Amino acid sequence: MITVLGFAGTLLLLGPWVAVVVLSSAVPAMMAEVAVSRRRAAMVGRIGPAQRRELFFSSLLTNPDAAKEVRLFGVGRYLWRRMTTEIETINREHRRVDRRELAVQAALALLSAAVTGGLLLFAVRSAVRGELSVGDVVLVVAAVASVQTALAGLVTDTVSSYQALLLFRHYLIVVDAGPDLPLSPCPRPVPALRHGIELRDVWFRYADGQPWVLRGVNLLIPAGLTTAVVGLNGAGKSTLVKLLCRLYDPTRGAVLWDGVDVREFDPAQLRGRVRTVFQDALAYELTARENIAMGDLTALTDQARIEAAARTAGVHDVLNKLPRGYETLLTRIFFAESDQGDPETGMVLSGGQQQRLALARGLILGASDLLILDEPSSALDAEAEHDVHTRLRAARRGRTGVLISHRLGVVREADSIVVLADGVISERGSHDELIAEGGAYAALFELQAAGYRASTTEVLS
Ligand SMILES: Nc1ncnc2c1ncn2[C@@H]1O[C@H](COP(=O)(O)OP(=O)(O)OP(=O)(O)O)[C@@H](O)[C@H]1O
Ligand SMILES: [Mg+2]
Repeated sequence: MITVLGFAGTLLLLGPWVAVVVLSSAVPAMMAEVAVSRRRAAMVGRIGPAQRRELFFSSLLTNPDAAKEVRLFGVGRYLWRRMTTEIETINREHRRVDRRELAVQAALALLSAAVTGGLLLFAVRSAVRGELSVGDVVLVVAAVASVQTALAGLVTDTVSSYQALLLFRHYLIVVDAGPDLPLSPCPRPVPALRHGIELRDVWFRYADGQPWVLRGVNLLIPAGLTTAVVGLNGAGKSTLVKLLCRLYDPTRGAVLWDGVDVREFDPAQLRGRVRTVFQDALAYELTARENIAMGDLTALTDQARIEAAARTAGVHDVLNKLPRGYETLLTRIFFAESDQGDPETGMVLSGGQQQRLALARGLILGASDLLILDEPSSALDAEAEHDVHTRLRAARRGRTGVLISHRLGVVREADSIVVLADGVISERGSHDELIAEGGAYAALFELQAAGYRASTTEVLS
């Protein structure tokens, strides 16, 4: 600004129109650059989905978990082609805007050359006529060049700020989106669970227009007892768990905690009272200790609590034998700062061991009232499953539990069993009652039992 004003003053001395011509040559530059930056901002928005797909394909190609299937099925080249197609799309969009920018800047450069040339011609002719001295001509040339450079800088800075603001809008949309679960303005404290949790005519679907997953579920989970939920794949068992943790609200109906709608609580406080082991629990690329403490960060430095949880989940012996015990990093992707000398200490656990670790994470003792286990033992060997469930029964004693499993041998120990089918509870009762009823549960149980018996007779024969 100072440079522009200073030299514009010099130009003013030569004649007001000289200053006007030089300064007004910045107007088309500004307009053209603003148009280009609008295009660029729109392009950034447009290529977002392609960039996400590119990221997805490239992460598949570099992720050790995906490597087994990618190599076994030989789909590396296919994924690579899909990734490069996305990159080509992105580059094409960039190139289109780059070309336009190049054309605009070339035109602007021509314009500024024409202005400079015109003024130089004017200055030289005035000098020939004796109206300007040679010194004045030098001054005109320097002033015009400086004003144009400074103006170009001004335009570039203004336009890049403008473009940043255009993109900042995306950030504001995310920040202003607000919570997806409506928060109660004055949330009630979550009391310790005394009577039970009730799902009252709960209807749920993941989004408008999607099929209903739950269609009027009525269920009482009594405090201090274990309720098992069984049902076919896709019946909505894990969805039910998500509603109990208030990761979603029912589309219709309500989840009541001792008679109080859970929407009246602060979700974070409610979730603090619920311990859940999800079917697809994460394995963190952190130390074994941290992996367990993720269930309750206050246990991070409390080795006794961590070990107790690991013992209940039947993973203590495995962790203890790791090269650095509980401090072993459970990844081979990178190593801990302290392992610089020996980067070989990182370990990868087996699928079942990872599941036990996730179980330990869910079992870490705290002020929890409800323990939800969504297929906690699907990857455990038979012996471990039996062991873990014996210990789990002890851990659940007095605690309210929800147990989901396809292994009915495990489920039969629950205080009550409900069968989820077609979005509603189709059967409920104890194992013996359901068997006597002779419904879907009895049929499924008979099928599993027959499977075991058949294999035993086959082996024996
Ligand atoms: N995040 C989601 N968005 C949209 N639909 C989903 C989502 N999660 C699950 N669904 C759908 O909800 C239905 C119920 O899924 P859910 O995971 O609750 O079944 P499940 O009973 O736990 O099955 P499984 O025995 O296989 O674990 C399925 O039809 C599934 O496609
Ligand atoms: Mg499930």
